[in-house]
Amino acid sequence: MARDELLDPTPSLSEGNEAEPSRANRTEPAGTNAEDPPAGPVLSLRPRNLHEFIGQSEIKARLGVILEAARRRGQPPDHFLFAGPPGLGKTSLAGIVAAEMDAELQITSGPALERPGDLAAILTKLGEGDVLFIDEIHRLSRSVEEVLYPALEDFELDIVLGKGPAARSIRLDLPRFCLVGATTRTGLITGPLRDRFGMVARLEYYETDDLCSIVVRAAEIIGADIDSEGADEIAGRSRGTPRIANRLLRRVRDVAEVQGDGSIGAAEAREGLELFGIDDKGLDKVDRSILKAICEHFGGGPVGLSTLAIAVSEPTETVEEVYEPYLIQNGLLQRTPRGRMATAAAWRHLGHIPPASSIPAGEAALFDFRE
Ligand SMILES: Nc1ncnc2c1ncn2[C@@H]1O[C@H](COP(=O)(O)OP(=O)(O)O)[C@@H](O)[C@H]1O
Ligand SMILES: [Mg+2]
Repeated sequence: MARDELLDPTPSLSEGNEAEPSRANRTEPAGTNAEDPPAGPVLSLRPRNLHEFIGQSEIKARLGVILEAARRRGQPPDHFLFAGPPGLGKTSLAGIVAAEMDAELQITSGPALERPGDLAAILTKLGEGDVLFIDEIHRLSRSVEEVLYPALEDFELDIVLGKGPAARSIRLDLPRFCLVGATTRTGLITGPLRDRFGMVARLEYYETDDLCSIVVRAAEIIGADIDSEGADEIAGRSRGTPRIANRLLRRVRDVAEVQGDGSIGAAEAREGLELFGIDDKGLDKVDRSILKAICEHFGGGPVGLSTLAIAVSEPTETVEEVYEPYLIQNGLLQRTPRGRMATAAAWRHLGHIPPASSIPAGEAALFDFRE
């Protein structure tokens, strides 16, 4: 077991099972909170305060101001919604909000709150100033969401006691708390819920420079010996995602320790990444099999999402939320109204000559820009 897996202070905020070869667990399609395994180590790779949180400078600046203002007023801050692909730091930011406010952090997730009563039970246990983190908040059912509205706006909870004609509703006062919501799917957040957040921040994929700093920081924490070229090599193949950067660092360290003296330079990093099937664009086996399926089985597309998901044996949500965004951002895949298409760059990446049909003739209108 990797040493850092034994080093996390907050069990509920500990890293996901990063040894997992597939990223399928990250979108947690089955509704389990795969990122928050129950048992956890003592020293986390998670940044503990805003200062340690690398990159995303605009979000950090805004968050910093809101938290400072709240601290000066001696009040909990407004509610926050963090959106963006898995592994970019949403859960970390929830922990940071609590740490910066010196507040208790309570953690739950959309799928865990099945009935309004589940949410009511959590809300009534909150203390003044607590931070409540709801992961995957887009998965809250409508009836649970409706309980949340008055709680967010007026710190009140409406409870219905009894059933039928004898039912009566009572209103409870809640302590002032701060809700932090996280979602991989902003498009699925209803308008009324979205409007109740004081700040909605969309996390973007990280620049290689920032990822490099993240790798260097993580290496220090886990005690890996890496130079700047080695860190750069890992950062460049991490798909803009800190969680992946940290995972690749661990794998590269494994290889460096087993095959060498443990120190990681550019050559060791490249060797390690190759051994684990990460190519020079940072694509892994599943990414490549998605592109291969489109190019080699479906003539470059268009192919429907569900067909594609079956072809690569991954859940549709995982293909859509985890794999596609990076492929699209890197100009390897297009979403069109008729289905997914491989771009000329994808054909080239697989070592094929792109067919004429893969080269768009300025047909921007064909592309589907939805999330
Ligand atoms: N800005 C950052 N600086 C340093 N490390 C980060 C940053 N963002 C994320 N990480 C690392 O990546 C891991 C995944 O982040 P996490 O907050 O769980 O992402 P999300 O909740 O968005 O899936 C964290 O445990 C942490 O080690
Ligand atoms: Mg998370």
